[in-house]
Amino acid sequence: MSSSLVEEATRIALQFDYPAEQVQRGVAEYIRQSDEGLAKEGATLSQIPTFVTAVPNGTEKGLYLAVDLGGTNFRVCSVQLHGDTTFNLTQSKIMIPRELMASGTSKDLFLFLARQIEAFLRIHHNEHFEAHLRRKREDRGEEYLFDLGFTFSFPVRQDGINSGTLIRWTKGFNIPDAVGHDVCALLQSAIDDLDLPVRVAALVNDTVGTLMARSYTSPGETGTLLGAIFGTGTNGAYVEKLSNVSKLENMNDSHYDTSTGEMIINAEWGSFDNQLSVLPSTIYDIELDADSNNPGIQMFEKRVSGMFLGEILRRALLDLHTKLGLFKLSKTSKVSIPTDSLLYRQWGLDTSLLSQVEADTTKQFVDVKAALKDHLKVENPSDTECKAVKILVHAIGKRAARLSAVPLAAILIHTGKLDTDDVVDVGVDGSVVEFYPDFETHLRGALREVPQVGEAGDKKVRIGISKDGSGVGAALIALVASKDQTLVTPNSK
Ligand code: GLC
Repeated sequence: MSSSLVEEATRIALQFDYPAEQVQRGVAEYIRQSDEGLAKEGATLSQIPTFVTAVPNGTEKGLYLAVDLGGTNFRVCSVQLHGDTTFNLTQSKIMIPRELMASGTSKDLFLFLARQIEAFLRIHHNEHFEAHLRRKREDRGEEYLFDLGFTFSFPVRQDGINSGTLIRWTKGFNIPDAVGHDVCALLQSAIDDLDLPVRVAALVNDTVGTLMARSYTSPGETGTLLGAIFGTGTNGAYVEKLSNVSKLENMNDSHYDTSTGEMIINAEWGSFDNQLSVLPSTIYDIELDADSNNPGIQMFEKRVSGMFLGEILRRALLDLHTKLGLFKLSKTSKVSIPTDSLLYRQWGLDTSLLSQVEADTTKQFVDVKAALKDHLKVENPSDTECKAVKILVHAIGKRAARLSAVPLAAILIHTGKLDTDDVVDVGVDGSVVEFYPDFETHLRGALREVPQVGEAGDKKVRIGISKDGSGVGAALIALVASKDQTLVTPNSK
C-alpha cells in the first residue's frame, strides 16, 4: 500500500506538468488576449488604463497616507518620501473580519476601513488630528491635512486618477452592492462620516503601486517595466505605449497627460484565458473552480496564487486520503487526524504550508512533519506519507511558477523591451514570490524556454522584490494627484 501511495502521488503530480511547448502556446495566446484587451472593453484580459502616465525617479518628497485593501489584511500607513530614493513607512495591519468580506454591505466594510484610518491617525499623527478637530470646533473652515492613496486591489474601471467603479470582486471577497460603484467615493463618504482630515486623492491597484515603488527605489537608466504581485492573488501592471491603447479613443471624457506617450496598464492577468483555451487543468482545478464563489473567472489566478494553491493541494490530499488511506490509521501506522482538521475545510490550507514542505531537505521530513502537524493536526505521519505530500506540493508549486512566466514573457515580447534595453527591471511582491522556495528559479526556467526570450533575454531581466509597494506606490500616486505634479520631469526634482 505504501509504495502505491507514492506511485499515485507521482501519477497525480504528472498531471501538473507544464512543458515548454505549452508555455510557448500560453505566451502566444496571452499576447493575443492582451491586444484584444487594449482594443476593447469586456475582453478576458481587462487591460485597464490607470491614467498614471509616468513612473517616479526617486526625487519625490512629502508625507502621505496610504491604505491597502486587497488581501487578508487591511493596512494603513503613512509614508515620508525623502526625495533621495529612500522613505520611512509607519504602518498598522488588521485582519479583515470574514463577515465583512463576504456577507455584509459595502457601507459596513467602508466604515470599518475608515475606523482603522481614524485609529491610525490617533496613534501616529495625533497632533495633526487634534489640530484638525480644534479648527473644526472653532469653525475656522475645513482643511484637508492628509492626501491618501487608496490601494484597492480588485478589478476597477478607472475613469480618473481618484475615481473608478468596481467591475467584480476577486480573492474571496463578495459584497454585491459595491459592484458598479465608485470605490473612492464609498471610502470618502465613510471618512467624512467620521469627520477625518483625509482626502482620497488617488486610486491604485497594488500592481501599479509595486511598479511605482520599484521605480522610486531603484531608478536606473531605464525605468521599471512591470510590477507584479504573486500573493493571495496574482496580477501585473506595465508601461504601455499610449498609441497601443486604442480603446482610450472611446473614453472621451477622461483627461490625462499625453506628454510621455505612455500609460501604466493594469492587466488583471488573474483572468487570463478564462475560456481555458490554453491553461492546463486537472480535476482539482475544475472542482476548485466549480465550488468557488466566482466560477469561470480568474482562471489563471486559480492556478497560480496563494489563495488557491493550498486549496488545490487540499483536494489532491483528500483524494489520496479517500482512495489510498493517506493519514488513515491502519495496523502498521500510528498516524492520527482529527475530524476538525483543516484538511476537511474548503480554503482551509494556507500557502505557507506548501512553502514549508517544499523547503524541507531533511531525510526525516522534519519540516514536512511539523507543517502537517501545525496546519492539519496530523500526528505521526509515516515517511511514505510525507514523501507523497512532498511530491504533490512540488508539482503544484512548480506549475504555478512556470505559469507565472507566461505573462512576463508575453509583456517582454509585446513591448519589445528586450531588443532596446540592456536591463529590463521588474518589481515583484507577494507571499508566494517572496517565500515559496525556488519560485523565481522555476519561473526563469520557463522564461528561457520561450524562443523570443531565451537565455540572453532572461539574463537581461532583473527581478527585485518591491516591499511595501502598495504603501509607497499609493503615496507616490497621491503625490502626483494632489500636487498635479508630473513624475519624471524636471518639476518633480
Ligand atoms: C486579484 C485582483 C487584482 C490584484 C491581484 C493581486 O487578481 O483582481 O486587482 O492586483 O489580485 O492582489
